[in-house]
Amino acid sequence: DEAFSGRDKRPDDLDEAREQARHCKACPLWEPATQTVFGRGPADAPVIFVGEQPGDQEDLAGEPFVGPAGKVFDAALAAAGIDRRQAYVTNAVKHFKFEPRGKRRIHAKPNMGEVKVCRWWLELERELIRPRLIVALGATAAASVLGHSVTIRDTRSRLIDLEEGTKLLVTVHPSYILRLPDAAAKAREQAAFEKDMGMVKEYV
Ligand code: URA
Repeated sequence: DEAFSGRDKRPDDLDEAREQARHCKACPLWEPATQTVFGRGPADAPVIFVGEQPGDQEDLAGEPFVGPAGKVFDAALAAAGIDRRQAYVTNAVKHFKFEPRGKRRIHAKPNMGEVKVCRWWLELERELIRPRLIVALGATAAASVLGHSVTIRDTRSRLIDLEEGTKLLVTVHPSYILRLPDAAAKAREQAAFEKDMGMVKEYV
């Protein structure tokens, strides 16, 4: 029901959008989650980073990329000389989806239906910010930005034209690097991620 989804009126600015998104019930993920984790950053940001969905720590803090994946993200930004405060950081899905496992909450991947429903918010963020560059961190983010699924292999590290004046850069999700068991592979992937962030540097 739109009246209960926080989408009864199109917000005019990001503050209004954030406030309305607090009440979003457009998909069932709102209920077990602590809160909506809306995007963070200036309304005139030249770059939007899009992740998949908030994790455990983001759900508790109400801010994107503050947990382990956020540390990998921050390190790559620092290596590329990018100040995170200049960018807008958000997620394709704005509630934490998880499976309870004892006292822990294990990340569960959002399905395409949930991504599609939440895309309303991402499109709004794009329209209100009109960035020069959108960076999709991983395949879920790329699918949400483009409106259809793509592989990282086919799209990575290329500038793809979106709407007037906006380009898309697809790269890996920082959690992918975190999960690599092999130290050499991890170092290699970290370097490749930093190289992609080097492309982003031209836009901030
Ligand atoms: N992973 C994401 O995709 N987004 C976050 O905000 C945190 C972890």
